[in-house]
Amino acid sequence: MRHLMSPLDFSVEELDALLDLANDIEAHPQKYAHACAGKKLATCFYEPSTRTRLSFEAAMLNLGGSVLGFSSADSSSAAKGESVSDTIRVISCYADICAMRHPKEGAPLVASQKSLIPVINAGDGGHQHPTQTLTDLLTIRSLRGELGNLTIGLCGDLKFGRTVHSLINALIRYPGIRFVLISPEELRIPSYIREDVLTANGIPFTEMERLEDAMADLDILYMTRVQRERFFNEEDYVRLKDFYILTKSKMALAKKDMLVLHPLPRVNEISVEVDDDPRAAYFRQAQYGVYVRMALILTLLEITVD
Ligand code: CP
Repeated sequence: MRHLMSPLDFSVEELDALLDLANDIEAHPQKYAHACAGKKLATCFYEPSTRTRLSFEAAMLNLGGSVLGFSSADSSSAAKGESVSDTIRVISCYADICAMRHPKEGAPLVASQKSLIPVINAGDGGHQHPTQTLTDLLTIRSLRGELGNLTIGLCGDLKFGRTVHSLINALIRYPGIRFVLISPEELRIPSYIREDVLTANGIPFTEMERLEDAMADLDILYMTRVQRERFFNEEDYVRLKDFYILTKSKMALAKKDMLVLHPLPRVNEISVEVDDDPRAAYFRQAQYGVYVRMALILTLLEITVD
């Protein structure tokens, strides 16, 4: 039995196969419409979510399966003090696979160690968000044609943004990847990513504060929200929340084929005037999230479709 805790749980070859499957699902949805008939997905979300939970549920429904779960700790027995280990033992009696989001780093890993069914990390604190990374990889590969030979600007809250940490870990395995890390001083990438991942693997990167200075070089601009829920005080959040706002005038500095990605939700960091720009790919990205989660469910349940 396999779980998914980090994008590195899959080899590059396995990732390619998963993305190929997602592309086939996109092209031939009817072929997969009953692939999970009789199977159940549990969504155990101890933290708020729109995209991840609902795209998992849409994915299982598209595969002909069923869904059950809870969308907040308050509406589960966690509110009475139940541990994730006990919860997953019980969920294992009710479902065939579980997607879990938790505010504590490592909670889905703890659950996976006690689980009798595959567990998917649907975001754990400021740590990892591997299914967002699968979504990002599918979006980039589908719209750019390849995952290598790209200059990727990561902009915003690089300290707490778990999607950024997961994406860096995944992309360094492809050739010709270069990062431009754009953040205010207080929200710089953590040293365990800068030193232990980028420097240790010889990946070229630069760090800067001004988005305008980076725009002309980028093939992908990955915008992120300032993660209010991870700040220790509101004053710091208020000071930093509008540090970056992507506008039409900044987009004018970018390449004609640059793509703008964002894991969403957006707060204020991309002006709505950018939404009509053909380079704005963040809503297409949300759609790719359904296909890739369908592919992931099939892969972890070891279901093949001829
Ligand atoms: N991208 C993402 O994780 O969104 P949600 O928090 O809405 O699931």
